[in-house]
Amino acid sequence: MNIRACLFDLDGVLVDTARFHYLAWKQLAGRLGFDFAETDNERLKGISRMDSLEILLSIGNVQLTTGEKKQYAEEKNQIYLQYVSQMTPGDILPGVNFFLKELKANNIFVGLGSASKNARLILQKTHLEAMFDVVIDGNLISKAKPDPEVFSLGARLLEVDARETVVFEDAVAGVQAAHNAGMKCIGIGSPEMLAEADLVFPGFENLKLADIRFV
Ligand code: BG6
Ligand code: MG
Repeated sequence: MNIRACLFDLDGVLVDTARFHYLAWKQLAGRLGFDFAETDNERLKGISRMDSLEILLSIGNVQLTTGEKKQYAEEKNQIYLQYVSQMTPGDILPGVNFFLKELKANNIFVGLGSASKNARLILQKTHLEAMFDVVIDGNLISKAKPDPEVFSLGARLLEVDARETVVFEDAVAGVQAAHNAGMKCIGIGSPEMLAEADLVFPGFENLKLADIRFV
């Protein structure tokens, strides 16, 4: 495969914000009177803010009006933003900078494909923004992963064919979105969780472009 573009999910792939999302949801669950376990958090990865709230409420068996849902989603976001406000380039996961630079040195486009409406802010806080040729975030898309929209739009703006594009994802819904877009997908995380991915690596540490070979 001739790789011309790599599209990266943000939360849990480039930075460990998946943890911040979890802590914020857990705090909100506490306020609503129930516990939110880390194992249940897997179901929220890659899912939009409102859809995540719906899943959380179903776990806690809590019913809210539309107005209350909006209010709680906003509250969760404020808690989350407190964590984000502390972020620095030191929060970039190990090996990420090295890998992105290797892609650039090989003239491979680098793009972001995230469901998060806070993606730009996080790229700014971590000084990663300049590395990206295109940024697709939750403000630009209307269909959540596993819909391919976020990645298809990224490839379209880069004018690269899906068959020449590789996606990096930590969420099952994200792996499905990549495949639905006709792209190869590299899972970042555990092989058990991301069994659908074409290749799985625990992270970017020691990862080189030459390691990316699809059979
Ligand atoms: C995804 C995360 O990247 O963004 C989800 O995996 C999150 O956990 C979603 O809910 C939306 O993020 P935000 O920042 O717009 O609330
Ligand atoms: Mg993610």
